[in-house]
Amino acid sequence: MTAGGTTLIYARIAGTGSFLPQRVLTNAELERLVDTSDEWVASRTGIRQRHIAADGQTTCDLAEGAARAALAAAGVEPDEIELLVLGTTTPDLIFPSTACLLQHRLGADGCAAFDVNAACSGFIYALSVADKFIRAGTVKTALVVGAETLSRMIDWSDRATCVLFGDGAGAVVLKAATEPGILSTHLHADGGYKDLLWNPVGVSVGFKPGEKNAGVRVLMTGNEVFKVAVKTLDRVVEETLEANGLDRHAIDWLIPHQANLRIIQATAKRLDLPMERVIVTVDKHGNTSAGSVPLALDHGVRSGKVQRGQLLLLEAFGGGFTWGSALVRY
Ligand code: UT7
Repeated sequence: MTAGGTTLIYARIAGTGSFLPQRVLTNAELERLVDTSDEWVASRTGIRQRHIAADGQTTCDLAEGAARAALAAAGVEPDEIELLVLGTTTPDLIFPSTACLLQHRLGADGCAAFDVNAACSGFIYALSVADKFIRAGTVKTALVVGAETLSRMIDWSDRATCVLFGDGAGAVVLKAATEPGILSTHLHADGGYKDLLWNPVGVSVGFKPGEKNAGVRVLMTGNEVFKVAVKTLDRVVEETLEANGLDRHAIDWLIPHQANLRIIQATAKRLDLPMERVIVTVDKHGNTSAGSVPLALDHGVRSGKVQRGQLLLLEAFGGGFTWGSALVRY
């Protein structure tokens, strides 16, 4: 594509990958841990099971599995990566970043590598950053990852949260191209909602070196988050369509953040999209935070549902609050 005689550069998804830990935790098993039921969890959230990282298995381990699968699908060697952006809220270490750990494992030393913490919107944020680098002509090949081990900071005696989350990772390789590609990304945040979904312990608040940090846990006022999420995702979907001059019926696939099937259904309804055109993985993966959108995308691609040339709407909402979307010609 050209504009005023100048060839535009787009970021195109060259390959996708994902990785899930082996261990599956079912709702039936959770019934033995807390006062809950498969019926409650499945009907209120759509979740039936989630994957849980093994002892010693880290966010970087999951990210590596997803990254290697995406690189193989794209036919890209690690030493071709010029930028690595990784969305996570559960890094292996406080520092170095998980992106740096992953870069070294892959043998992509030397390229820029950093983490993005935007909670469940982490992958959309990371994708948007990498898209800008490619559009600016700064890099030609980027690896974008969303990876989490949320299970490590769950209070397994809190039924309001422990039934919701799971571990997993997804990745995409972006390559510069003359045809789209990522058409637009839209990022937002409102820190005023901090207390509705958060982890009250950080390095400069509540952290006790050398002690068991029992206060590290996800806290959520679920029904309040639910209401804001539905309204906010409606708005960002409208914003994305408007920015691209598109009617809602133009979307081939909705690839949403997988927090709750009822939230996903509300967004699909807004788009007048039948659920057959929505990639749903929440039943099998639970909420994997920054891992959820790229896991769903990879599932859509590898199942043969998502085809080259189709128009995809990716969206996410999470702690911060943060939210965002990406319109992608796959
Ligand atoms: O990824 C980041 C964004 N996160 C989200 O988008 C999550 C948004 N929120 C949600 O998905 C839903 O609000 C939840 C699934 C977390 C909760 O569903 P809800 O329909 O909003 O339920 P609620 O919190 O209003 O609770 C209804 C009832 C309460 O009991 P009472 O007060 O009515 O007697 C809860 O104590 O359900 C009870 N409850 C449970 N019961 C069985 C809460 N958790 C459970 C549970 N099992 N695990």
